[in-house]
Amino acid sequence: MFNETIRPRRLRTSDCLRRMVRETRISPDSLIWPIFVREGTDIYEEIPSLPGQYHYSPDQLYRMIERARAHGVSRVILFGLPAHKDECGSGAWAADGIVQQGIRKIKELAPEMYVITDVCMCEYTSHGHCGILCGHDVDNDKTLEVLCKTALSHAQAGADMVAPSDMMDGRVARIREILDANGFQNVPVMSYAAKYASYFYGPFRDAAGSAPSFGDRRSYQMDWHNAREAMRECELDVQEGADILMVKPALSYLDLIHEARRRFDLPIAAYSVSGEYAMIKAAAKAGLIDEHGVMCESAVSIFRAGADILITYYACELADAIRKGE
Ligand code: PBG
Ligand code: ZN
Repeated sequence: MFNETIRPRRLRTSDCLRRMVRETRISPDSLIWPIFVREGTDIYEEIPSLPGQYHYSPDQLYRMIERARAHGVSRVILFGLPAHKDECGSGAWAADGIVQQGIRKIKELAPEMYVITDVCMCEYTSHGHCGILCGHDVDNDKTLEVLCKTALSHAQAGADMVAPSDMMDGRVARIREILDANGFQNVPVMSYAAKYASYFYGPFRDAAGSAPSFGDRRSYQMDWHNAREAMRECELDVQEGADILMVKPALSYLDLIHEARRRFDLPIAAYSVSGEYAMIKAAAKAGLIDEHGVMCESAVSIFRAGADILITYYACELADAIRKGE
C-alpha cells in the first residue's frame, strides 16, 4: 500500500538539501597515502602495476611531498625496496635501511608530515615471506624478534607510528614492549589486525617485489571465508595494546569494517589495497567506468561501513574530491 504522504524523494529534490541530510561526512584528515621508497638515487619511476604511483629514491621524495602538499595530504605510510635481500631480511632493521633513510628525508623536508611505517619482512627476505623460515613455514616466535628490531629502528629513525602487517601472533604486544623499553611510549601501533590472504595484493607485490618465491601466505594471513576469526584477531590486538585496528582489504570486507566498528572503541582503519586501485584504473582506462565517480563512491562506502581512517593510493585525488563535497 502506497501512503501518498510519505515520499523519501522529497529530501532528494535539490543538491543543497541532499548535502544537508547527508549521513556520511568525510575529511582529508582521515586519509593515509602509501609510498614506495627505493634504494638508489635519481629514481622517480611510475609503477607499472599502479598507474599514477611512483618509486622514489630518498633524494626524489621531495616530489612526493610537493604532490601531497598540493592536495593537503599530510599522512603517509612507507614501504621499502632495499638494494639487497637475505634469508632473514636484515635490511628491514638496518640503521641506514631504505625506510629509515626515507623517514629521515621526509622529516627533514616536511616536519609536518605524519610518517607511518609498514613493519614486515617480505620486502627484505630473499624468499619473500613475511618472516623467518623454519623449513617451508614462517616461524612465529623467531619472526617476532626481527619485527621488534625493525619497529624499533623505524622509531629511532623518526617514524611517528608503526604498522605491523606480518600477521604473526603476539607481535603487537612485543612491539609495544620494545618501543616502551626504549623511550617510545608515544609511538602508536596501528595493527593490521584483520589481514586476509588476499588476491587483491597482486599489484603491490609487483610494486614492492615482495611476492613469495614459493607457496603462499595462508599459514599466517587470514582465510577470507572467516569473519568471526577477524573479530578474535581484533580482540587480541586490543588486549596487546594496539592503538588503531586495521581491516585489509577494504571493499570486499565491508562487513568486517562494520562489525569491528560496532564491537571495538579504537579507531578503525581500512586499507583499500593495490588490487582495488588497479581495478578502478584498468576499468576506467578501458572506458567502462567513470574513474572519479567510482573512486568517490568506493571510498564513501568504506567510511559508511564504519571506517575512521582510509589508507588509499587515491589519497591525493580523494582529498580534493572531499573538499568539493563529492
Ligand atoms: C606486507 C604488505 C602487503 C601489503 C601491505 N603490507 C603485501 C602482502 O601482504 O603480501 C598489501 C598492500 C596492497 O596490496 O596495497 N606484508
Ligand atoms: Zn609481509
